[in-house]
Amino acid sequence: MKIKTAEFVVSNSKVDQCPNSSLPEYAFIGRSNVGKSSLINMITGRKSLAKTSAKPGKTQLINHFLINDNWHLVDLPGYGYAQVSKSTKRVFQKFITAYFEKRKQMICAFVLIDSRHKPQPIDMEFMQWLGENAVPFCIIFTKADKLKPKVLEENIENYKNEMLETWEEMPQYFITSATTKLGQDDVLDYIEEVNEQ
Ligand code: GTP
Ligand code: MG
Repeated sequence: MKIKTAEFVVSNSKVDQCPNSSLPEYAFIGRSNVGKSSLINMITGRKSLAKTSAKPGKTQLINHFLINDNWHLVDLPGYGYAQVSKSTKRVFQKFITAYFEKRKQMICAFVLIDSRHKPQPIDMEFMQWLGENAVPFCIIFTKADKLKPKVLEENIENYKNEMLETWEEMPQYFITSATTKLGQDDVLDYIEEVNEQ
């Protein structure tokens, strides 16, 4: 898919105030600082459509962007930033879970995982929650430029093996870098394919 137009629509903290539109939407979610906003800029080819920062916790609201006048891309705040409750059971920000529970036009969540790290319980738990709530999702491994190809390959293999301990199959996944634009076409073509179904 070619990106012809990409416009910021609205930011808010309440799902009920998200755009009143039935256009299909795709949400980018993951731990704080994993690279959600950077990836959105990379795939849309717009340098500063979504605000990025080296400091975790930059994105605090649900941000809607209108792409090619026919679908929405959604930048969400990160989870896992000082989120551990006493029982060690993680509590995801209420409005993030509310977004996925209520937003019926949400077609696919892209769960971003930093390709440098071993599987983290919070990501596993979040994907578990998505599964339990029947929310379709794909995985996007980010920051691939930070690893040597061999290490990258090993990390992905390791991630797959760990996923297969709880999931019957590995979800659809993409390997990306906001720096080198690796994965741009793969993600866009996937969205186009799903939009056409
Ligand atoms: P929050 O909004 O705080 O949850 O973070 P985020 O997930 O939106 O991350 P953001 O895109 O703001 O990026 C966090 C940091 O990682 C920034 O310093 C980015 O420049 C850096 N970064 C993001 N993606 C990449 C990448 O693919 N490669 C490299 N080398 N750095 C990246
Ligand atoms: Mg962000």
